[in-house]
Amino acid sequence: MMSGDHVRDAGRAGEGDARKTAEGLTYLSGFGNEHSSEAVPGALPHGRNSPQRAPLGLYAEQLSGSAFTEPRAHNRRSWLYRIRPSAAHPRFTRADNGALRTAPFTETVPDPNRLRWNPLPEPAPGTDFLAGLWTLGGNGDATQRTGMGIHLYHANSSMDARVFSDSDGELLVVPEQGGLLLRTEFGLLRAEPGEVALIPRGVRFRVELLDASARGYVCENYGAPFQLPDLGPIGANGLANARDFRAPVAAYEDVEGPVEVVNKFCGNLWRATYDHSPLDVVAWHGNHVPYVYDLHRFNVIGSISYDHPDPSIFTVLTSPSDTPGLAGVDFVVFAPRWLVGEDTFRPPYFHRNVMSEYMGLIEGAYDAKTAGEGGFVPGGGSLHNMMSAHGPDRETFEKASAADLKPQKIDDGLAFMFETRWPVTATEQAATASHLQRGYDDVWQGLERHFRD
Ligand SMILES: [Fe+2]
Repeated sequence: MMSGDHVRDAGRAGEGDARKTAEGLTYLSGFGNEHSSEAVPGALPHGRNSPQRAPLGLYAEQLSGSAFTEPRAHNRRSWLYRIRPSAAHPRFTRADNGALRTAPFTETVPDPNRLRWNPLPEPAPGTDFLAGLWTLGGNGDATQRTGMGIHLYHANSSMDARVFSDSDGELLVVPEQGGLLLRTEFGLLRAEPGEVALIPRGVRFRVELLDASARGYVCENYGAPFQLPDLGPIGANGLANARDFRAPVAAYEDVEGPVEVVNKFCGNLWRATYDHSPLDVVAWHGNHVPYVYDLHRFNVIGSISYDHPDPSIFTVLTSPSDTPGLAGVDFVVFAPRWLVGEDTFRPPYFHRNVMSEYMGLIEGAYDAKTAGEGGFVPGGGSLHNMMSAHGPDRETFEKASAADLKPQKIDDGLAFMFETRWPVTATEQAATASHLQRGYDDVWQGLERHFRD
């Protein structure tokens, strides 16, 4: 695979340049594949990973995403051929964590109440993706590599001559407003609203905005890397199909000059000023790579007889835990679909769940949530912690109970869920936010008594 984007100027591209670059991107296809890519012909060694002298004077470096000894099916690593080895960096010093928080989350007492937020307020001018990250909450312990963090971002500026990497977990970026150009060590990815990007643990990247501002969600997964769920009796195809995941082709920056590299490590941000861009990988091969995936490609499977299947049928990616079937976190999408169930209450049912559910909305509306102060709006989110009771609001219940059950297309929204085996503890800033909706419980008031004995 020979293609690439040789950039001389690290991170100073304008919005228009970023969009032009983003629109010309090509990708490699498939999830979990052993890919290879070179931005300059001849940059990849053949027949060995670490020759005595790597081609073109490059340095060979392995990036391990799993322990060396994990079973082959779970083993993840990539070999990078770069202008300078990653080891060539100065000392990192502590940087301000801004609004980023990390597990263990101990700022507040875990709350059994149902919580819902409006979108993040406008950021100050000059806020880039990293500065615009704001942590809502999470669970587990980043140092134990368990659990997850829920972040939102709101940015109005591209990252300028700076690069981020997260040693604590992989990042599932869910844009809601504004496209992103992600310049990673492996190459470039474009992620628009309705698409998601997955950046592996430790991979350096810079985010440039394709529009005036960008807003969205991030699941920081401290646990096992996201994988496609098993399909069981569904068969060999369906849900998120592996071929629809796109990995970048190699693209590198040959930049001498100061670049700020920020590393999130065990909950804190650390920074160092390099004398070159670390996005200098000219060729690579391996299976530990970033991806972008278009949620509109999700093959939605549901009931064609009766009842609403459990929403696990909508799982895009899952991070398994040490207990089979019990995910550290599932990423679930509620994509456009037909509802045809006979004698069925078609919206999502009333529910109490041992798992904890954070829901966000990328576009439109969600079919069980219409009411309430502020509503469930794109860019907002709801948290239904372990065993908290939730389900359709009164208006949705009354309407769906009386509806004429003709086949019905749900096509006016794209909602998603981060569903996790551990309760989510909110950060102090989320628990006291001005955009926290104080009257969320009202959604379930007025559900009338219909019992007749
Ligand atoms: Fe639920």
